Amino acid sequence: MKFFIDTANLKDIREAQDLGILDGVTTNPSLMAKEGIAGVDNVLKHYKAICAIVDGDVSAEVIATDFEGMVREGEALAALDEKIVVKIPMIKEGVKACKYFSERGIKTNMTLVFSPGQALLAAKAGATYVSPFVGRLDDISSDGIELIAKIRLIYDNYGYETQILAASVRHPMHIMQCAEIGADVMTGPFSAMLALLKHPLTDSGLAQFLEDHAKANS
Ligand code: G3P
Repeated sequence: MKFFIDTANLKDIREAQDLGILDGVTTNPSLMAKEGIAGVDNVLKHYKAICAIVDGDVSAEVIATDFEGMVREGEALAALDEKIVVKIPMIKEGVKACKYFSERGIKTNMTLVFSPGQALLAAKAGATYVSPFVGRLDDISSDGIELIAKIRLIYDNYGYETQILAASVRHPMHIMQCAEIGADVMTGPFSAMLALLKHPLTDSGLAQFLEDHAKANS
C-alpha cells in the first residue's frame, strides 16, 4: 500500500520523505490555507516546492466548481510538474472534468467521495485515484472503513484501474484496516504513520539487548 502524506506543510513532507516511506502527497484548499498559502501565484509556487521534495504523485485541488473553470485550473496545475494530479470534487461538473482530463492523459483524483455509487462514477470517468473520506464518515457515526471494502469489491468485480486512495485517515488503526482490505493508497498525517512504529515490546526488547551488550563488553 502506498503512503501519501495529507498536508501542505513542507517540513512534514521533507521529514516523511527522508524517512524513506513516502509515495506521494495530497493537499486540499483547507490544508493550503492552514499553511497561510494564498493567491494563485503563491499556490502554484507552493505546489512546485512540494514537487521538488517528493518522488511520487502530488494532488492539487481545483477551486472552480464549473466545468470550464476546472479545466482551466487543472491544466495550469498539471503544467507545473508531471507529478501533479488534478484533484476534483465529486460533483456533476467534476465527473465531466475528470473524463476530460483522463482522455488527455492528465492524472486525476476524485475527492469528497462518501458512497460506493460516487466511487463507481469516478472509475467510469477514468479517474486515476478515488478519495473516499474514512475519518469524516466515522465522525458522523457511519463506517468509513466499510466504504473502502465496498469500493474494493466493486472495482475488483469489473477490473477498474482507478486506485482507491483512502483519505481522511486519522490514526494507525485506519491505516492497518485499509491495508487489510487492500486499499491501493492511504493518505493521512505524518503522526499516524509514525504511530505504526510504536510497540512497548520493541522498546523493552531493545533496552534489554543494549544492557546485555554493555555488560558483556564492560
Ligand atoms: O485531503 C482530504 C482528506 O484527507 C481530509 O482529511 O482529516 O480533514 O477529514 P480530514
